[in-house]
Amino acid sequence: PIPVIAIDGPSGAGKGTLSRLVANRLGYHLLDSGALYRLTALAAMNAGVDLDNPDAVAAVARHLAVRFDAAGEDTRILLHEQDVSREIRTEAVSMNASRVAAYPPVREALLQRQRDFRQAPGLVADGRDMGTTVFPDAGVKIFLTASPEARAERRYLQLLEKGEKVDMDALVADIRERDKRDSERAVSPLKPADDAHLVDSTELTIEQVLERILSYTR
Ligand code: CDP
Repeated sequence: PIPVIAIDGPSGAGKGTLSRLVANRLGYHLLDSGALYRLTALAAMNAGVDLDNPDAVAAVARHLAVRFDAAGEDTRILLHEQDVSREIRTEAVSMNASRVAAYPPVREALLQRQRDFRQAPGLVADGRDMGTTVFPDAGVKIFLTASPEARAERRYLQLLEKGEKVDMDALVADIRERDKRDSERAVSPLKPADDAHLVDSTELTIEQVLERILSYTR
């Protein structure tokens, strides 16, 4: 079978950055599964679909016209051929993504689409349930965590770079709220697969985490 490296964990643990680095290093494809939930939320918002209606949102997920366009270092994310790479990272879309991700029919609608990313020579899959639900047969499973404070601090620095100023306490509260929702939902809650390697990045640099993950792939 085509190899899969599943990298799961909570918001802000550094999965996105690490997944991209691991994929680049190994020459593998990359699945940003969170982007699919974000795109679903955005498309539903744009279409005026009732976000409280799981079946209506699932219909949006099933028909998403999305394209991931690898442009050098970055990947442009296109929804109906429109670049929404920035728009899907706003706070409003983040909150709604977490909300619609709790709906079983939405997760079901996105399942095969995620599995289709498994192409030679291999895939790095970034998400919450890559090792437990989407690719339970993945050869390497990583569960990447960091303390809520460390994750809020990284988010703070990212927002500062974008010229946005936010309150640190609000960020920590936001992260805790999202953790709670992600880990308490009935389907595919955020939890490590039984055979996952736990990596806590609180005290580690990106380079150190990268080396740790690569060591599990050898
Ligand atoms: O890293 P961050 O939490 O900011 O966002 P993300 O990884 O892009 O995921 C966006 C939302 O989608 C999260 O709130 C998760 O609840 C959800 N998600 C999920 O349920 N399952 C996945 N495999 C990936 C993301």
